[in-house]
Amino acid sequence: MDKKRPSYLYNPELCPCEKGAAKGCPRFRNCGDCIANHRSEGKIQQTACERKATLIVYYSLEGNTDFAAKEIAKVLGYETLRLEPVKKYPEKGPLKFLVGGKGACLAETPRLKPYVFNVNEYARIIFGFPVWAGNITPPIRTFIKENDLQGKKIAAFACQGGAGAEKAFGKLKEALGIGKLEAELILNDPKARPNEGNEKKILDFCDSIRDGLRG
Ligand SMILES: Cc1cc2nc3c(=O)[nH]c(=O)nc-3n(C[C@H](O)[C@H](O)[C@H](O)COP(=O)(O)O)c2cc1C
Repeated sequence: MDKKRPSYLYNPELCPCEKGAAKGCPRFRNCGDCIANHRSEGKIQQTACERKATLIVYYSLEGNTDFAAKEIAKVLGYETLRLEPVKKYPEKGPLKFLVGGKGACLAETPRLKPYVFNVNEYARIIFGFPVWAGNITPPIRTFIKENDLQGKKIAAFACQGGAGAEKAFGKLKEALGIGKLEAELILNDPKARPNEGNEKKILDFCDSIRDGLRG
């Protein structure tokens, strides 16, 4: 078996869905019957394989990105990994912008608290981060440096106060060495400044990637 591929996508014995395993399908994620089955449920319209093959990896200082990550996870049924630097960034006062802004501008890669991530289990990563000085946040950089994400599909969402997310997506692509993101979502402080439009934006983002792993 190809070691780069998540094992459960190609191994009927490990397949988490009874229907796929019963059919002995070696490429279960493409099983039309199974997809139709899940579609008919109306809620999370994805197969178990599709859900398991995507991880939402995010950093949040003040809770907005955390809020967005949980909303996306709720809609699509994906798991999340919240990154935490060993040394916390200041949450208040002028130091908040000074320390975080400097770290982002200098493309720092702070040490992260231990996390569990097996790169072979995932076909797609969705990154979530607050925009800092028009850049991605340093913990995201550390994660990219520590893991070989070559060949993965990458989508991203960014929370911002007002502007800079597009530029930050550019920095994300640069850090990953890729030319394109599968999907992008920009939210303005979705927790601190709730806005009716956010729900639609989140649902549109989810819709645009829902079928992205089907071969
Ligand atoms: C150090 C720092 C730099 C920031 N830089 C920007 C920026 O360049 N553009 C912007 O629109 N918001 C900026 N913000 C605001 C945050 O991106 C925004 O409030 C975001 O929703 C916070 O997400 P969080 O609650 O997950 O930390 C900055 C915030 C901090 C702490």
